[in-house]
Formats: sequence, structure tokens, C-alpha cells
Amino acid sequence: MNILLTGAGGFIGRNIAVALAAAGYQVKPVSRSHGIDFSRMLAPADWLPHLEGIDAVINSVGVIGESGSQRFEPLHTLAPAALFRACSQAGIRRVLQISALGADETAFSAYHLSKRAADDCLRSLDLDWFVLRPSLVYGRGGKSAGLFMRLAALPLIPVVGDGRQELQPVHISDVVATVMRSLVSSETRQTLDIVGSETITFAEWLQMMRKAQGLPRARVLRIPFPLAMAGVCLGRHFNPMLRPENLRMLQTGHRADVRPLARFLGRMPRTVEPGLFFSDVAPTESPS
Ligand SMILES: NC(=O)c1ccc[n+]([C@@H]2O[C@H](COP(=O)([O-])OP(=O)(O)OC[C@H]3O[C@@H](n4cnc5c(N)ncnc54)[C@H](OP(=O)(O)O)[C@@H]3O)[C@@H](O)[C@H]2O)c1
Repeated sequence: MNILLTGAGGFIGRNIAVALAAAGYQVKPVSRSHGIDFSRMLAPADWLPHLEGIDAVINSVGVIGESGSQRFEPLHTLAPAALFRACSQAGIRRVLQISALGADETAFSAYHLSKRAADDCLRSLDLDWFVLRPSLVYGRGGKSAGLFMRLAALPLIPVVGDGRQELQPVHISDVVATVMRSLVSSETRQTLDIVGSETITFAEWLQMMRKAQGLPRARVLRIPFPLAMAGVCLGRHFNPMLRPENLRMLQTGHRADVRPLARFLGRMPRTVEPGLFFSDVAPTESPS
């Protein structure tokens, strides 16, 4: 089975690629490093030549913040929608979209709204689709977890407000397991929130990251929301994750019922464990 995998060099994409190869799938990778820029793939006709011989498509391209020519609308909405329509034209039925937790009717950020627009497009097509919405994904090499890891190593750990924002982090291996199951499951046309089985506060998340780095628990430095917002505005020149909108998303928090995912996987996803922060998908992972 030949799979076109976009975002194949990214944190999630490269772990999916490892699992696909281990399970005997052929992977056709797509990203700028593979010579294809989403911002120039805005019509189904742009995609059709790349879909020859392809049996299923997984879209895992995304950016957490806009910069230069990397804009949400072409990357998250227009190019994926063109890809999904091209799949429909080419008779490729199985299409998986990696969206994000919060890209639902409560979405307010440009990030989530641009993701949801592509999800809606896919859901409107007569395909065997899956819209997979991961929570914060952690594991070796994750960009967002990497930033939090650096924050956690500071002598005082900085939290916004009381640091009690709720997170449901999910390990990369559970994201990959969901993708692998979605490729073979007959229960298609599903929107699934991919969340861990434990809800923890932002402050506790950072404490766990200290433990993962062999550091003792640290005192918490509470930063009032307006001050944190000012810091993020300054920091956005150094890290694309540091955006006012991302801080608002953190403050809002997103939780989801873990039971639909547990039913789909036939097991509970992992709890948050410091030992897992530096692990990713095992090369032996295969569909169940
Ligand atoms: N990581 C998380 O915690 C998390 C949580 C929820 C949802 N998600 C979603 O999951 C997806 C993958 O996330 P990730 O963490 O794997 O991100 P990542 O590590 O930043 O990878 C992004 C991928 O997209 C590709 N890409 C970026 N701009 C592109 C462009 N203009 N044209 C073609 N390819 C482009 C990148 O390759 P090149 O740079 O070579 O182009 C890379 O392969 C995203 O849609 C993200 O929103 C992630």
C-alpha cells in the first residue's frame, strides 16, 4: 500500500513514517525539504500528478505561528482542501487529516479556525476520512514540548497566573497508534480527539519536565496574564510559538473525553510519565 504523507520530516510526520515503514507501507514524503511547498499547491490539479499510484493520504503539515511566507490560510486550509478534493477526483478514498484539539465549534484563534476549515472540507467529501485532533504532543524532538522543557529548567518555573491551566498531553506513540489504526479501521468518517488519559495543570507539566531532566521540583514564579502577554509579544521575534494567540489558547485550555479514543485503540492512551519525554515511536510499532 502506497501512502502519501505530508509533513513527513516533522515531529509527528517522521514518527508516522517510521511506523508506516515498519509495517510494510511504502511512503511518498511531501514537504518543502522534499521539494513541495504547500503555499504553491492550492488547486487540485497541483496535486493530481503526485497522487498517481497512491492508495491513502495523510496530511501532517502545519505551523504553530505565521512567519514570512508561512501563512495559516494556504498551509492549513487551501492546500489541504485542494489535496482532499484531488483525492476525491483520483478515487483515493482513505484520507487522514492531522488537525488539532480545539479546532471545533469553540475555536477562536486563526490557528484553530484555519485547521477547522480544512477539517470541514474533508468531512464534506464522500471519502473514508478521519479528522484526528491531537492535544499537546510530547516525545523526543517535539518543538512545543522542547520550548516547555527549556522553561522548566529555569531556577524558578514561570507560569501564567496560577499555573492551573489544564492540559491533556498525549505521547507521540499514541498519536502514531491512532494513525495506524485509522488506516485499516472500517469505522471511517470519524473526528477523534487524541488526548492522553490524564489531565494535569500547566505547573505540574513543567515540574514533570524538570523530573525528566533530572532536576528537583522548583518553586513556581506566577506571572500575571497581562505581563506574560507583554513577554510573549517581545519573545515572538525569537520563537514562532511565542504568540499572543498561543498564550490565549493555553489560558483557555482544551480538554476532551478520552473514551472515544480508548474505544478506537482498544486500550487507554498513556498517562504523562517523565520517562517518556525523551522517547518516541518504537521502530517495531505496527497496526493492531
Ligand atoms: N506537535 C504538537 O503538539 C501538535 C499538537 C496538535 C496538532 N499538531 C498538528 O500536527 C501537525 C504536525 O505537527 P508537528 O508537530 O509534526 O510539526 P513540525 O514538526 O513543525 O512539522 C511540520 C511539517 O510541515 C512541513 N511544512 C511546513 N511548512 C510547509 C510548507 N510550506 N509546505 C510543505 N510542507 C511544510 C515541515 O517540513 P518543511 O519545513 O521541510 O517544509 C514539517 O515536515 C501540524 O498540523 C500541527 O498543527 C501538532
